[in-house]
Amino acid sequence: MAGLKEEINLDNLPKHIAVIMDGNGRWAKMKGKLRTFGHESGVKAVRETVESCAELGVSYLTLYAFSTENWNRPKFEINALMSLLVSTIASETKTLMKNNIRLQTIGDTLSLPSKCQRELKEAIDTTAGNTRMTLVLALSYSSRWEITKAVKEISADVQSGKLKEISESTIAQYLDTAGMPDPELLIRTSGEHRISNFLLWQISYAELFFTDVLWPDFRKEHLYEAILSYQGRERRFGKTSEQLSA
Ligand code: IPE
Ligand code: IPE
Ligand code: MG
Repeated sequence: MAGLKEEINLDNLPKHIAVIMDGNGRWAKMKGKLRTFGHESGVKAVRETVESCAELGVSYLTLYAFSTENWNRPKFEINALMSLLVSTIASETKTLMKNNIRLQTIGDTLSLPSKCQRELKEAIDTTAGNTRMTLVLALSYSSRWEITKAVKEISADVQSGKLKEISESTIAQYLDTAGMPDPELLIRTSGEHRISNFLLWQISYAELFFTDVLWPDFRKEHLYEAILSYQGRERRFGKTSEQLSA
């Protein structure tokens, strides 16, 4: 897989890549370790992915870190994930500053422990002026939660007269991803071929890339492989192939 980076066409990069980081638990189990060891080991893959996206010139990277449904996991695992989040944000903010990367979140972050909320707020505020890339963490996120919230806010604004008409762009503006371009490429690791309540509205026309690699093993070359697969596809948006080449 060496040299894949040079094959990437930098004029045809996805502006926004979204990743379902899956397989930490199975990775740890294969090694006879606790699932939480898999989560800790996934941090290196996060670092590699953030760094390579920034190096290439991707504008937005969204990482699915914790879903609404993940609250149903054992308390021990949830606690471990929350402390990992706190320690990782605290230790990585310096690197985000150095690499000129802005941090944002989507999801019901008010449901996170207050220590996580504080750490996130600090990192978001500190990195707010950075311009090279936006790193979006999906935390306590699910698409149905996000759409339900948007519908409630839209109906309140219609009732109060603030909103007169509802178009596709109105809906997009009420989602947590307001202002971000839709992801052109969605990557899921670990061999699962499903979306698991992630960005359902936003990925309407995204190219999907599934790999059997478990998240803790995901490295820059795997990202390059996904981008090259994306660049080899014909994105027709409902048109015919002949129309596109005309
Ligand atoms: C992804 O890995 C991390 C989170 C969902 C937080 P998993 O923990 O889902 O690992 P598997 O899918 O059980 O192997
Ligand atoms: C999706 O992974 C959520 C994250 C990666 C944070 P899960 O492992 O929770 O997904 P399912 O439940 O197996 O579909
Ligand atoms: Mg999983």
